Amino acid sequence: MSFAYAGGVYCAEGVSLEDVAQRFGTPCYVYSRAAIESAYREFAQALVSADRVRPSLICYSVKANSNLAVLALLARLGAGFDIVSGGELARVRAVGGDMGKVVFSGVGKSEAEIARALEARVLCLNLESEEELVRTDAIAKHLGMRAPVAFRVNPDVDAKTHPYISTGLKHDKFGVAYADAERLYREATARPNIELVGVGCHIGSQLTKSSPLIDAAARIAELVERIETAGIPLAHVDLGGGIGIRYRDETPPSIDEVVTSCLAMLGEGRHKVIFDPGRAIVGNAGVLLTRVEYIKRGEAKNFVVVDAAMNDLLRPALYQAWHEVVAVRPSDGVEDIYDVVGPVCESGDFLAKDRRLSAASGGLLAIRSAGAYGMVMSSNYNSRPRCPEAMVSGARAELVRRRESVEELYAKESVPTW
Ligand code: LLP
Repeated sequence: MSFAYAGGVYCAEGVSLEDVAQRFGTPCYVYSRAAIESAYREFAQALVSADRVRPSLICYSVKANSNLAVLALLARLGAGFDIVSGGELARVRAVGGDMGKVVFSGVGKSEAEIARALEARVLCLNLESEEELVRTDAIAKHLGMRAPVAFRVNPDVDAKTHPYISTGLKHDKFGVAYADAERLYREATARPNIELVGVGCHIGSQLTKSSPLIDAAARIAELVERIETAGIPLAHVDLGGGIGIRYRDETPPSIDEVVTSCLAMLGEGRHKVIFDPGRAIVGNAGVLLTRVEYIKRGEAKNFVVVDAAMNDLLRPALYQAWHEVVAVRPSDGVEDIYDVVGPVCESGDFLAKDRRLSAASGGLLAIRSAGAYGMVMSSNYNSRPRCPEAMVSGARAELVRRRESVEELYAKESVPTW
């Protein structure tokens, strides 16, 4: 177990979170290297078991957790990367990631981002509109090259997840309409600076049922057949990410189940299959460690006021997301029902509500399942410096991002002379 109690204290692998707090302070994100490795290996193994001959690639979705230590670890394991910005491209480059395994999705790629990706020789740009095709063609012409592209097609299946993280329905801003896809492929073949290499889709995140993913794979397979019948051969099919994890009592399908059923939909084809998982790789590989500042007993509620807040972990405030909260040393606290809240000046600044917990002033809590969409969505709201990140491996813990200083908060600002 990557995170578990040992001797009454909650630990990350072989390191007590009390030691982590003492060394790096709180709040602090803590990642387990073993947990990331094992989730990645499970995915890679599922791909091999599902189809021994079909080539495959896992493009880890950088947006889920873009710390260089995480990216370097995954690059070493052979992962490719799914990126959404020039910033993410630079991060992958900074860890020596293989550009030939990078797919670039996103509805609003700028000219500079497209040019940088083409110059870096990424595997594929997932185009999300007709205008983006025109723009990419022009930039590739200017650079004297052919741009490797796929269209991200919106298969119009209901991912049955939180509306903010559903992306595959007709009214979502993502992808090109399924009905327009064939026409766009035909049109793109006429462009000398465009090379059609594949097709992509991504229907949403934190999916707890496999059926929407399987339906999407079936719709994409049908489309690929039509496109190829029209004389346009494709090299790969990118089925996106989205596999959910257990935060509370969800029962998401296993990686193996999803991969096997999706591949079955692709039939006998020789296409390389790409998945771009984020949360399934890092979600349960991280906790946010926080210290209790005060216990505040109110008339209607008891509050545990901690030193982490919505600026550190936005998911509860933004999506009413449920993250398990555990006491690092339960024997030191008083058990009761509490709301766990931060110091930010917003009623929406909560990390958990109505939880039975053992809490004490000065004690430590761990907010679980915070490895994905945690640090990456943090902000400096209320002029709070971003917290550090640490990675644990066995009995070792190392800082992989230091705490921001207060001076850094306004280092880029200036006061006009007038
Ligand atoms: N591929 C594409 C094109 C994506 O847009 C995403 C995520 C992924 C892959 C990875 O999805 P995953 O395997 O992690 O579900 N902030 C939200 C999640 C937003 C997901 C955005 N796209 C949250 O905290 O739940």
